[in-house]
Amino acid sequence: MESNTKENLKVQKMNIDERMSKIGKKIAIGSGKGGVGKSVVTSLIASYFAKQGKTVGILDLDITGPSIPMMFGIDEKPIGNNSGIIPVSSNSGIKIMSMSLFLPNNEDAIIWRGLRISGAVSQFLADVAWGDLDYLLFDLPPGTSDVQLTLMQNIKLDGFVVVTSPQILAATIVKKAVSMAEELNVKVLGAIENMAYMSCPDCGKEFDIFGKGGNDKLGLTIINRIPIDPKISKLCDEGKIEDYQIEFKDIYQRIENI
Ligand SMILES: Nc1ncnc2c1ncn2[C@@H]1O[C@H](COP(=O)(O)OP(=O)(O)O)[C@@H](O)[C@H]1O
Ligand SMILES: [Mg+2]
Repeated sequence: MESNTKENLKVQKMNIDERMSKIGKKIAIGSGKGGVGKSVVTSLIASYFAKQGKTVGILDLDITGPSIPMMFGIDEKPIGNNSGIIPVSSNSGIKIMSMSLFLPNNEDAIIWRGLRISGAVSQFLADVAWGDLDYLLFDLPPGTSDVQLTLMQNIKLDGFVVVTSPQILAATIVKKAVSMAEELNVKVLGAIENMAYMSCPDCGKEFDIFGKGGNDKLGLTIINRIPIDPKISKLCDEGKIEDYQIEFKDIYQRIENI
């Protein structure tokens, strides 16, 4: 029985390595806290990369709700065939797969802990048929849980992008996520500051609603800043986040240059 399990794990690891060998760069997007905009940032980075002609996939590892599929207007259940679980393509061709789509209902997410969740993440990494991709982005759940640990132990990530908001509280919690990545030898690329400011619709002046400087304490480079923009929440609700226009040259170059 034990050797059987060991053998299965070995096969699973080989499958993961085989899948990941076809992917150019593997980047995780995380933060210590929920609701700071990880899924928005992941979606915007993916959309920007797709606009530059790159092939991109998103693996949504947050089982507490299907936010990535919703932001891209995807409601179909993924199908499987003999090459694996087939990701769903967005309008601009981003390949999307979400663990939450495999849960019968949201309450189940709460009792998915420890070994079970780790097992599900490994199985996902082994079974999703991405094919060849330039970039695979991993949208992480909040905190420093078994999901993050399993991901970073199973594959060699090329980088970790931290999402923060200017509130000091968010920044303090984010520290934990950064330490975890560093302990697991994942290169921390820097931070994307979400909800960083708001532009006045009349005069264009920028207002720092949550103050400024909370993220300085982290000692992280802020690569790009994203405003609070009602267009973002509207496009999320409509499943059209790909249509949002944002200049993401800095994060693009940073990932390109790894
Ligand atoms: N910069 C922003 N401007 C306006 N609304 C935003 C912004 N960032 C996030 N939101 C809203 O907040 C919600 C939560 O963001 P989300 O990316 O799902 O957070 P997380 O993944 O960190 O839990 C989104 O559905 C969106 O409506
Ligand atoms: Mg999310």
